[in-house]
Amino acid sequence: MRMPHLLLVAPLLVVVFTLQGAEIGEQPRAPGIEAEDYVWEHTEDEVNALLSVEVDYEQGRYAYVYCQGCHRADGSGRQDGTYPQLAGQHASVLIKQILDIRRGSRDNPTMYPFADEHILEYDDLPHIAAYLESLPIPGDNGKGPGDDLARGERLYNRDCRECHGVNGEGDAERFKPVLAGQHYGYLVRQTKEIRDLERRNANPDMVLVLRGYSDEDVEVVADYISRLVMPERAAPR
Ligand code: HEC
Ligand code: HEC
Repeated sequence: MRMPHLLLVAPLLVVVFTLQGAEIGEQPRAPGIEAEDYVWEHTEDEVNALLSVEVDYEQGRYAYVYCQGCHRADGSGRQDGTYPQLAGQHASVLIKQILDIRRGSRDNPTMYPFADEHILEYDDLPHIAAYLESLPIPGDNGKGPGDDLARGERLYNRDCRECHGVNGEGDAERFKPVLAGQHYGYLVRQTKEIRDLERRNANPDMVLVLRGYSDEDVEVVADYISRLVMPERAAPR
């Protein structure tokens, strides 16, 4: 009577192993972030292909004209954080974020029409990104109130530094953004959205780190970050 049992169980085992196999190849995910939003593998290949194009800074500068109304001619955005500062950001990060906005995996109703093909041509992406990366990061970005910078520093060193770097320099190859010189208001808004699963393209490991953060934790860590300076890209003062 053993054989029939095994025959019944065998297909089930196949199903179980197949499901486990499917999980192994995927990125670790925070609950609530769908794999189709966090399209890491796909994006990585696409961005790297765009980054291999020979850069024409003039073409990038020309394409950026449409963006200046919000992000300003020097890429500095707005001190109140409504529009992020883009100057000195890694080209890889800029391209990834624009592609994510374009695909609708990063919600951004204000930006959406400007990420569209009609205004920003796909072929302009590597040039506009390289142009923005080459702009110096202004030091007069919006800063936090400075109430508890010691705790902000502790939180940053414990939970963020490993990925975003000692000076907030990020990691171009791993699509980790420069945070140095970013506006406090923008940092607070984005970090809360990442924590609350509202920025669906957010790195899943970062989402996990932010899970236990209160609004106040977010504000003190953003305050600390808003004061970071990345010497290689900072504008001379
Ligand atoms: C109407 C105003 C507006 C215009 C025009 C605009 N943007 Fe934006 N952009 C925004 C806002 C607002 C955000 C922040 C969205 C958010 O809070 O998620 C943003 C975010 C971005 C980001 C993500 C930054 C980051 O740190 O992740 C990039 C990159 C960007 N814009 C590039 C561009 C480019 C390139 C153009 C021109 C083709 C452009 N934007 C035109 C309003 C605008
Ligand atoms: C595991 C690596 C990792 C850790 C840890 C991490 N981040 Fe991030 N962070 C990223 C990546 C990658 C992105 C780009 C998101 C994406 O995939 O589009 C990002 C994006 C951000 C952004 C958006 C920046 C922008 O220009 O829009 C903010 C703000 C941010 N992180 C803050 C933090 C804070 C605060 C902490 C610590 C509490 C933290 N991160 C910890 C990897 C990390």
